[in-house]
Amino acid sequence: MKRDLLRLADLTPEECRRVLTLALEIKNSGRPSTQLAGTTLAMIFEKPSLRTRISFETGIFQLGGMAIHLAPQDIRLGERETVPDVARTLAGMVDMIVARTFTHDTVSSLATHAQVPVINGLSDLHHPCQVLADLLTLAERRSSVETLGDLTVAFVGDGNNVFHSWMEAAARLGFRLTLACPAGYDPDASILEACRRDGATIDILRNAAEAAQGANVVYTDVWTSMGQEDEADERRKTFADYQVNEALMQVTAKDAVVMHCLPAHRGEEITADVLEGSQSIVFAQAENRLHAQKALMVWLGEQRG
Ligand code: CP
Ligand code: NVA
Repeated sequence: MKRDLLRLADLTPEECRRVLTLALEIKNSGRPSTQLAGTTLAMIFEKPSLRTRISFETGIFQLGGMAIHLAPQDIRLGERETVPDVARTLAGMVDMIVARTFTHDTVSSLATHAQVPVINGLSDLHHPCQVLADLLTLAERRSSVETLGDLTVAFVGDGNNVFHSWMEAAARLGFRLTLACPAGYDPDASILEACRRDGATIDILRNAAEAAQGANVVYTDVWTSMGQEDEADERRKTFADYQVNEALMQVTAKDAVVMHCLPAHRGEEITADVLEGSQSIVFAQAENRLHAQKALMVWLGEQRG
């Protein structure tokens, strides 16, 4: 049966651990392999990307397949032809689709109408591939996928797509998750409620220091996500107290790590000294996009039989 990864809630806790374990195995085994020989991946991007594009394109190549990059002007998704028509046409020719779309509905519609696996490479609501790579980075440091549940993760900033994926990860792996964000920037209430129903411990606070107190992981992301550029000035003011800086790092656990999905805005959500400092693991995260995305594609291929 074809499976999609539109959000982390598409994976059971066991499947989430399986993909992470596979990623560790793939990373440690070196490259290349022929696990996806002859496989083609269509990559639809409505927004810019460095890490997502390169990790999927390099990843499929290292597994013996090939990628076809479709920039906005190439297909003009939903404009030149409908999303369902694009999905059905692509599914007749390629084996997998990754899509970075403005609205989550667009990537969902691709998945509904394509008979091949569809991967969300970031939508307004979720960024599951990023958080899989983040979890891989933490599992690697702990030499274990099984003990991720012992962590305390503090996310400082917007209750956005990346945070939504962190919430769904918490519901699957059992770590404690806290968000510090200004009023009005809370995560989506229905996703939060579903994650809590699934057993996640998630606190939403207004104070960054309170959220970071004793945390093992301090995570941040841009204050203004792609598609929200008109709000950038207002957000710069509203989020001024939600910066990951040296003072904030004083209240975390002593061996805490700092994470950021990148791209970063030094001097806004994170200071340059913390981003470049000894606790930062941001470029390990970036590299692990490659290994996590390879594992995801192999796993999705296995599900089809
Ligand atoms: N973190 C991330 O998704 O990076 P890109 O936007 O460069 O793909
Ligand atoms: N929240 C950010 C993540 C970028 C990788 C955005 O959506 O632009």
